[in-house]
Amino acid sequence: MLGVYFSGTGNTKYCVETFVRQFDPSAYIVSIEDPSVVDKIKSQDIIVFGYPVYFSNLPKIVHDFIVNNQKCFYGKKIYIIATMAFFSGDGTGCAARLFDSAHILGGLHLRMPDSISDSPILKTSYKANKKMINRAKEKIGIAVSRLKENNPHKDGLSIFNRVSGLLLQRLWFRNAVSSYKKKPVINTNKCTGCGLCSKLCPTKNIFVEEKAISHDRCTLCYRCVNNCPEKALTVLGEKVYGQYLFKNF
Ligand SMILES: Cc1cc2nc3c(=O)[nH]c(=O)nc-3n(C[C@H](O)[C@H](O)[C@H](O)COP(=O)(O)O)c2cc1C
Repeated sequence: MLGVYFSGTGNTKYCVETFVRQFDPSAYIVSIEDPSVVDKIKSQDIIVFGYPVYFSNLPKIVHDFIVNNQKCFYGKKIYIIATMAFFSGDGTGCAARLFDSAHILGGLHLRMPDSISDSPILKTSYKANKKMINRAKEKIGIAVSRLKENNPHKDGLSIFNRVSGLLLQRLWFRNAVSSYKKKPVINTNKCTGCGLCSKLCPTKNIFVEEKAISHDRCTLCYRCVNNCPEKALTVLGEKVYGQYLFKNF
């Protein structure tokens, strides 16, 4: 088994790693940003594929990764994990429908703290976030046992899930993730040009000379927003309310 993931702020990485290690302590994980990921996928039969849900949809970088590397998934058994702050409807289904000739073993939806740090909506306390992470860990334990018993979770894979994801979010927000964006917005009064955002960006979208500037390759992952020491970057909102990173829990 191999865990393959995209994770803006660490939630999905944690969930995929916890899942595969409980299933098989010798199994390992690899990010879709790692140049060796395709070769690693080719060498395994069972793939646990994880990503965060954005507006009941796939992050553009995840969508493109699947489409551009379709061949390496042929014949694989894929178990999908989608993390979300509150609701996705068919978070796992969005990827399941993209994999052409793979066998979908199951799907797992996990609620984790919200990574959108420039909006006050869905913000919960440190204690509540910790509780949410513990609940996700418990659900992963159950999901691993069920997969071993050949009775895997099928979260997000039904037609009912698909209709609810479409009607409650995807239809209204489809432009949000259908292309890469000219984001983040960088406050040049706050930016010190330290270059951390540029180093962390998964799409190499941020350039720093004296101050940082962004181009049009943003996948909305919020890694830069949550890591900037000056809180100088925003994506959907106008002010950073508090920075979220899984590693702080
Ligand atoms: C642009 C964006 C859109 C999001 N949309 C949703 C959503 O529709 N529903 C939801 O429950 N959470 C949503 N979230 C929250 C993330 O899915 C959630 O925090 C996820 O666990 C982050 O995972 P990561 O740390 O691996 O990046 C969104 C986050 C971002 C950045």
